[in-house]
Amino acid sequence: MTTGRQMALVAFLQAQNCTNFPASWRHPAAVSDFLTPEYYRRLGRTLEDGAFHLAFFDDRLAIPDVYADDFSVTMREGIRAVKLDPMLCAMTLGNATERLGVGVTYSTTYYEPFHVARTFATLDQLTKGRAAWNVVTSLNSSEAANMGARSVLEHDLRYDRAEEFLTVVRGHWRGWDDDALILDKQGLFADPDRVRRLDHKGEWFQSRGPFTVPRSPQGEPILIQAGQSGRGRQFAAKWGDLVFVIYPNLKVGQKSYAEFKDELEKQGRPRDSVRIAPAVYTVVGETQAQAEDRRAVIDALVKPIDGLVLLSEVLNFDFAAKGYDDPFTPEEMDGISGIQAFRDRVVTLSGRSNPSPRDFVEFTRRGTLDEFPVFMGSPKQIADQMEEWFGTACDGFVLAGSVAPGAYEDFVRLVVPELRRRGLFHKGYEGATLRENLGIPKPVF
Ligand SMILES: Cc1cc2nc3c(=O)[nH]c(=O)nc-3n(C[C@H](O)[C@H](O)[C@H](O)COP(=O)(O)O)c2cc1C
Repeated sequence: MTTGRQMALVAFLQAQNCTNFPASWRHPAAVSDFLTPEYYRRLGRTLEDGAFHLAFFDDRLAIPDVYADDFSVTMREGIRAVKLDPMLCAMTLGNATERLGVGVTYSTTYYEPFHVARTFATLDQLTKGRAAWNVVTSLNSSEAANMGARSVLEHDLRYDRAEEFLTVVRGHWRGWDDDALILDKQGLFADPDRVRRLDHKGEWFQSRGPFTVPRSPQGEPILIQAGQSGRGRQFAAKWGDLVFVIYPNLKVGQKSYAEFKDELEKQGRPRDSVRIAPAVYTVVGETQAQAEDRRAVIDALVKPIDGLVLLSEVLNFDFAAKGYDDPFTPEEMDGISGIQAFRDRVVTLSGRSNPSPRDFVEFTRRGTLDEFPVFMGSPKQIADQMEEWFGTACDGFVLAGSVAPGAYEDFVRLVVPELRRRGLFHKGYEGATLRENLGIPKPVF
């Protein structure tokens, strides 16, 4: 059934040696040229062939080394052991494409707002209005250590600070009127009356201006946010244009989708003003049997250590310091400063307020494909599952890759035509900018 609107498709990309699935680099079909521009260009062209709305790069400012306070297992096992600067990889991909949106993750905790505003405004100009910023507050002590901070700021405080950060960034982006640039060789270059200083003096930041980059064809970059905690969701509902979520299943998704729309209303925004997209994996085959065979190959690549290393990293807690079946103490549970939604999910699913490392491994499925919902089967079966979610639980999907670039090539070749046949996905790009293609209006200020 078609709801009239069409789904947004986002590729969940990494500037690194593996996909979200850490064992992906071990896959026989994985390419190993992630240090070359060809890798990013190829991904971009594939996604644009399939008319994906956005290629989005995640980021972390450290490799995983919270586990046993060491990095050797990360290196040996290639558990996201490389992390390139996502902005430059995104620009490389942007240069190989014309209409595909280009999204990059940047931290509000470790950069200055003026720097971030200028970097993204430049990306937006150089891609002719296709830029998006995934706003994250960062989470673990390895990032703090790399970026010269003594410790990680407390969870909710990171969001308070991020509020002011975004006020500064958006303020700068709105420092030039759309028509400020005149470029009259015999007259004005730019109209000084249509450019302003921001003069921000706040609790955390000071920034004067005027900003150094004129407004882009889409006005300003799309803001992506993926907060899952109460405070995070509130932040996402206030600032986000596109919101990423993790729904363990459709039922929870439907409930959370409706709740998020309530939160939007509380923030004074229309219920349909934001695109909500859950992270999912797809494993497609020409037939169900072929998809099952592919899934078996993928599952056989997983090593138990992958999950423990990544859990330590994301929760900012050293899982090597506890016995596998020892329950967490209440102090340890409270002290988890990483992604709290992970912790809360384990408590809910296990029914234990003091779960053990085993519970964390089993209920988060970190390091395996089951960390996100997996849509598996023939193109028709995958489209059935996407159709079931679309409209009642989401407005689109963030597709994580089981193997790069093959998972995206298969999806574009097999699933995109089926989604189009059903009227669920656009036939091509209608607009020139990312905002136009997502149906998110240019901000008026
Ligand atoms: C699809 C998706 C992508 C994310 N990408 C990143 C990322 O690249 N870097 C990062 O530090 N956090 C990333 N996050 C984490 C979120 O920004 C957020 O911190 C997390 O979902 C926990 O929510 P909370 O901050 O409200 O506790 C991502 C989350 C999701 C769901």
